[in-house]
Parts: sequence; C-alpha cells; structure tokens
Amino acid sequence: MTFSKIIGVGSYLPKNLLTNKDLEESLDTTDEWITSRTGIKQRHIVSKNEATSDLALEASLKAISASGIDKNDIDLIIVATTTPDKVFPSTACILQAKLKINECPAFDIQAVCSGFIYALSIADNFIKTNSAKKILVVGADSMSKITDYKDRSNAILWGDGAGAVILSASDNLGILSTHIHSDGKFENLLHVPKKNDPSLIDTIEMQGSQVFKMAVNTLDKIVDETLLANNLHKKDIDWLVPHQANIRILEATARKLDMDMSKVIVTIDRHGNTSAASIPLALDQGVKENKIKPGNLILMEAFGGGFTWGSALIRF
Ligand code: UT7
Repeated sequence: MTFSKIIGVGSYLPKNLLTNKDLEESLDTTDEWITSRTGIKQRHIVSKNEATSDLALEASLKAISASGIDKNDIDLIIVATTTPDKVFPSTACILQAKLKINECPAFDIQAVCSGFIYALSIADNFIKTNSAKKILVVGADSMSKITDYKDRSNAILWGDGAGAVILSASDNLGILSTHIHSDGKFENLLHVPKKNDPSLIDTIEMQGSQVFKMAVNTLDKIVDETLLANNLHKKDIDWLVPHQANIRILEATARKLDMDMSKVIVTIDRHGNTSAASIPLALDQGVKENKIKPGNLILMEAFGGGFTWGSALIRF
C-alpha cells in the first residue's frame, strides 16, 4: 500500500509586527482583553509590496530544502489560500513560476481556515491513486489585506504567514486518514461581504461568539470521528497541531482529548490567526522546537468560514 509521508516542512512569517499595544493606539481595546479572550500578543503583517505568493515561496523553499529533494521532482503544487495575489492566475501557478518549476499541475484551494487540511486531503488522494509522487502543499494567507482595522470585533485576530510541506509517496505509514466537511448554510456568520463599490476593500465580518460555540462543538465531533475511523484512543495521540483561532478553542479541544496543554503546539500568541497557514506554521514550529519527532502520532484539526472543518491523523 502507498502512503503519503511528510518528508519536509518549512514556514515563513513577514517581518513587520503588529502588537496588542499597537492596536491599543488605534482601536477601543486593551492588551489585557485581547490576551485573556484570544491568547494573542502579536501578529506578523505583510508589507505593501508583499503578496501571498511571496510568503508561499519562502515557506516552500524551506520545505524543499528540509526534504532534500530536487524541486524538479515535484509533480503537483497545491496552495490553500483565501487571499490570492490576484483573481487569476492561481497563487499556485504564480508560486510555480517563482520556484521555476515547469509544467506540473498547480492549483489553489479555498476553504478558509480549514484550507490546509483540505489541501492535504486532496494531495493524499493524488498519492494513494498513484497520480503524483512528490507534492508541495502550502497554506499561505495575507489576512491583513481583508481586515477592517476599525472593527475591533475581529481585527485583533488576524495575522499573515505561510507554511509548506513536501508529501512523498512511501511504503511507510504517513497520513492515516483525513476527514473534511462543510456546511454552507452558515455563510453569514463568518464571511467577506461584497460591498459592490470598487473604491472600498471587501473585509471580514464575523459573529464571533456564535462561531466560537460552533467551532468548539464541531471540533469535538471531528476528534471522535478521526479516532473511531482509525480504531485509536485519545491516549495514542502524541501531539495536537490545531488551527490557531483562539487559545480558548485550543484548550477546549485539548480537554476533549484529555490532553495536557504541553502536548498542544501553540503559536497563536506570536502569530495570531493566519487562516490556512496556521497549521503548517505550527507544525514547523513543533519540529524546530524538537517537540515533534519521527514516529509521533499527530492530530491536525481546523474549523473556519464556510463553515468548513476537518482533520488529518499523521504518523510523522
Ligand atoms: O478561524 C476561523 C474561526 N474563527 C474563530 O474560531 C473565532 C471564534 N471567535 C472568537 O475567537 C471570539 O468570539 C472573539 C475573540 C472574536 C470574541 O470574543 P468573545 O469572548 O466571544 O467576545 P464577544 O464577541 O462575545 O464580546 C464580548 C464583549 C462585548 O462587549 P459587551 O457587549 O459585553 O459590552 C464586545 O463589544 O467584548 C467586547 N469586545 C471587545 N472589547 C475589547 C469585542 N471585541 C473587543 C475588543 N476589545 N477587541
């Protein structure tokens, strides 16, 4: 049987920092409120001339280097993003040109904060069906470009960044299962409404507390679904690598897994919510900090706009 194995991880954060103290200057908010309600202390923000593909490029180069493969062996590129450089071509095609890789298929996938899990799930199926052998899977977002910095209800959450993995066909266990879901009827709880005015930028609107409750309940269910599908138990999981939306959501999922927070990779304090980038950013952090080691069992999960949600269980 062929498995999809992660053989390289990389990430990139833009240089500019936006701290809670900075936000106190422009918004009716406090460091104390943001820290206690979200766990966030700072976020990285792209500069004017930086595009999502630039973040994706830096993360991809690091993942390729960590994997030790020749970039020309990549036979598929998938970029999960909600903030593409342009309507078209896809950010994946722009990334492909920047990487100077010719002719392999490249496409974007849009599932907001669950995007990386969706991309991983698609990539896993390409490998299992022998349609690809080396896949570059990227989660990259410049959420600051669609944030209304006058709206304190969600401007405090978002950050920019990118994370990437190289998935390789392998005889050894890698991705054990992926689980993806959506429910479009909740569109208006978390979305970017069309202003239909070319002089205005369309920005995120969110009914925060309703999204929060849905996220906690749904992530509870996806944990059960994933363990059941693999006939595994809570205690078998070595690391939780969750989408970083709110420290209180991370704590709720850890409680559900009877897991100590020391087994959860937490980056939200430094990165904020980087949407599709948050899981591969956290994975890279866990690897760099020497926490996640070969052979560990990792549970990734995410919930986001759509609503979309999903999980991936991985033998690293
Ligand atoms: O990644 C995709 C999925 N997204 C999520 O999972 C995000 C889920 N939601 C959340 O993380 C939280 O709902 C927020 C962090 C967005 C908001 O936290 P909350 O505890 O749910 O606050 P709330 O919206 O219920 O508001 C509570 C109070 C309100 O004041 P009153 O009406 O009680 O007087 C808000 O006006 O907090 C006020 N408030 C703020 N105060 C200071 C809202 N935002 C702020 C702020 N600073 N930035």
